[in-house]
Amino acid sequence: MRFDDRFLEEIKSRVRLSDVIGKTVKLKRQGREYVGLSPFTKERSPSFFVNDDKGFYHDFSSGKHGDLISFLQETERLTFMEAVERLAAEAGMALPAPDPQFAEQEKKRQGLGDWMELAASWFEGELHRPVGKAARDYLTRRGLPEQEWKRFRIGFAPNNRTALKDYLITKGAKAGDLVEAGLLISPEDGGAPYDRFRDRIIFPIADARGRTVSFGGRAMDPEARAKYLNGPETSLFHKGRLLYGLPEARKLLHASNDEQLVVVEGYMDAIACQRANIPAVAPLGTALTEDQMEVLWRLHPEPTLCFDGDGAGMRAAARSIDRALPLLKPGKSFKFAIVVGGKDPDDVLREQGPNALKAQLAETTPFVDALFTRERDAEPLDTPERKAGLKQRLRAAAGSIADKDLAQAYKDDLYGRLDVLFARPGRGGGGEDGGAPRQARRPFQPGAGKGQRGAMTFDAFPTPEGKEAAKKLAVSLDPLAAALAKGALDDPHRLDDHLELLERSGFGDPGLSELAKEIIRLRLDADHLDSGALARHLRDRGFAGLLTDIDRAAARAGAPFLKQDVTLAAARSQWTHAFEVLNRLAALETALSSAKANLGGRSDMAAFERLKAERDTLKRAVRSGDIWTDGEA
Ligand code: UTP
Ligand code: MN
Repeated sequence: MRFDDRFLEEIKSRVRLSDVIGKTVKLKRQGREYVGLSPFTKERSPSFFVNDDKGFYHDFSSGKHGDLISFLQETERLTFMEAVERLAAEAGMALPAPDPQFAEQEKKRQGLGDWMELAASWFEGELHRPVGKAARDYLTRRGLPEQEWKRFRIGFAPNNRTALKDYLITKGAKAGDLVEAGLLISPEDGGAPYDRFRDRIIFPIADARGRTVSFGGRAMDPEARAKYLNGPETSLFHKGRLLYGLPEARKLLHASNDEQLVVVEGYMDAIACQRANIPAVAPLGTALTEDQMEVLWRLHPEPTLCFDGDGAGMRAAARSIDRALPLLKPGKSFKFAIVVGGKDPDDVLREQGPNALKAQLAETTPFVDALFTRERDAEPLDTPERKAGLKQRLRAAAGSIADKDLAQAYKDDLYGRLDVLFARPGRGGGGEDGGAPRQARRPFQPGAGKGQRGAMTFDAFPTPEGKEAAKKLAVSLDPLAAALAKGALDDPHRLDDHLELLERSGFGDPGLSELAKEIIRLRLDADHLDSGALARHLRDRGFAGLLTDIDRAAARAGAPFLKQDVTLAAARSQWTHAFEVLNRLAALETALSSAKANLGGRSDMAAFERLKAERDTLKRAVRSGDIWTDGEA
């Protein structure tokens, strides 16, 4: 059944996100949001935010972002349908009545599904019969031992035009239905339908719920017309929406703490990965479609696209960049992994074992890196025209991202890389690059190898998707926090005595915590840092957008230390005062919530009231601007 948008909006307006999430995650109110420990990772300090007004949650520790429905899908592994049903019940809403035509189709599909299921079992059985001897030998030779056949429901279609048909007809099937299900082919000349799969190893293809909806058949004879033959598009099987191995991958994903979800090129590769306990799926003989990308993103914020290290694999990787680019969203992207040595994952598992396969797939390149490297290496950069051409290509690439915020973040990020590239003539600059042999034109270096040109700078970039996702919740930064950040950026020495405090509570706004971390990291590396260098560095790291937000929010704080006419000494002392107030406030909030949790006797109550009074006074002072006058006193 499908739901229209109005129905879904109605559910969302009736059920509060924080109520649903609050059942499994302990949430604490913080301003307009709720905060708690991430349900997706094992974290100790809360970085999971829920915003009822906007109707979404964001988890900074895993980068996951979503709404009511996706929360249930993610945490309880419900399907979309199941999640909607549950929420509708909670909202006291009846599900829309199914339309009769749809119900009829559904019944038909169910019938076809039963024949598919029976066919799958029959193929499995054939593999074990004498007729399956060559197939068994083939599988064993390929390193897929008998104990694995059951798990992947591997089967065999004997070389016979009516064996499956005869079997299913005796079970009551109608030939027409079997044609509709794609099991039989009905010849154009009107002759009797015959078995589609003959003399092939059979890989059943399951839908998201694990029901068999089609088959892939691999020829054992190298001379065969097609190496793989897949079932046709039917009412059960939509090639562009399904992914091979999905139900199994979902199980493994859960068991592996959602670490990595890999998309490989072939059936045997998906099987190889799953045998190594790596959650993996494969598209069905075509390039990854938009629908498949959306399916993947529902399971993982950043699936890894794995390509074979040969020319075809590299071209496929390059193409998938273009296909995915428009669809990227804050917090939703892809990574790339290249299997080295012209092999595929199945070869690696067989020749080098599961650990080697895991290691190869773990070495990934972020999307933005792959894009930048592909464009950089597309042609030599030895003339101003070509350098400008690169800039133009990067701008066009960023511009093709549909999400406006992310498009801007990509542009900032890519331009930052460009500045780095052109600012280091001896080191990755045009001249030397231009002379590189053309056969080295790969979309990107496998794993962006350490020590590779560019790697020392590009590795450290946080991805634009991640930062955009973080920014979504920081759309309106707290003005005081922004003012403090701005004061620190203008005059980094103010932080000299406060790094510890900065580490503990940042600038007092979660939207600035990444920035605070980056500043700390930098301060630990470099003793002397002027504001120009700091700003450049932060822009290079992709914080340019955030810096603008900070300026905007800080302007609303009315902080005297940001005024033009203030002396440096006065600005420093005011800044320090405000920074301490903010930290005192943060400490009071923490103390208050633990006091609240332990309220018992009368003295507890008195202590609680004292803390609360102090906090409220400070808050008022911040709001009214009184802290600035206090600071001068
Ligand atoms: P590959 O040719 O890379 O084969 O096709 P493979 O997966 O390594 O298969 P093995 O190891 O030789 O058995 C990758 C995928 O492309 C689709 C199949 O889904 C295959 O798994 N394909 C390939 C077809 O649909 N038809 C073909 O004729 C070939
Ligand atoms: Mn292979």
